[in-house]
Amino acid sequence: MPLTIQTNSATETKELGKKLGQLLKPGNVVLLDGELGAGKTTFTQGIAQDLEIKGHVTSPTFVIAREHKAIGKGPALVHVDAYRLNTLAEISHLDLASDLEQSILVVEWGKGLVNDLVTEPIHIQINQFVDNEERREFVISADESILEGLAK
Ligand SMILES: Nc1ncnc2c1ncn2[C@@H]1O[C@H](COP(=O)(O)OP(=O)(O)O)[C@@H](O)[C@H]1O
Ligand SMILES: [Mg+2]
Repeated sequence: MPLTIQTNSATETKELGKKLGQLLKPGNVVLLDGELGAGKTTFTQGIAQDLEIKGHVTSPTFVIAREHKAIGKGPALVHVDAYRLNTLAEISHLDLASDLEQSILVVEWGKGLVNDLVTEPIHIQINQFVDNEERREFVISADESILEGLAK
């Protein structure tokens, strides 16, 4: 059963992302879906918050993938915009220095890539509300340990 969590501001969304980031391990894949402006990049900024990586997370649109190398002991973050991708195999042509199995991979518009993944991804659908511009609903599918950690 997926876990549903609501946030009421971009700050709360970053906090939620940070919480997930603390639970992630190298090799984990996070697929984010939701319309333009839903908060996929904002959430990714939260994931990155406690990771020791290079650079700032911004929208990867037009670059397809942005790699944030590790500057500490933890994993690198590879942030992908899959809007124009059909398969994850296309990412492997992108010449990433980081080994994906040792990195955290976050994919915006990632839903369509599920079948291409070897590892079980964490999938997050972000929904907006017509009556409240700042509210978002995160429908999170992941293994029990992650869901338990997020629910705390
Ligand atoms: N609860 C919320 N969570 C995330 N973003 C929010 C929220 N409320 C308002 N916003 C705003 O919505 C926008 C989300 O943009 P962004 O993260 O780039 O979306 P996406 O990557 O899905 O296109 C930002 O301008 C952000 O400030
Ligand atoms: Mg984005």
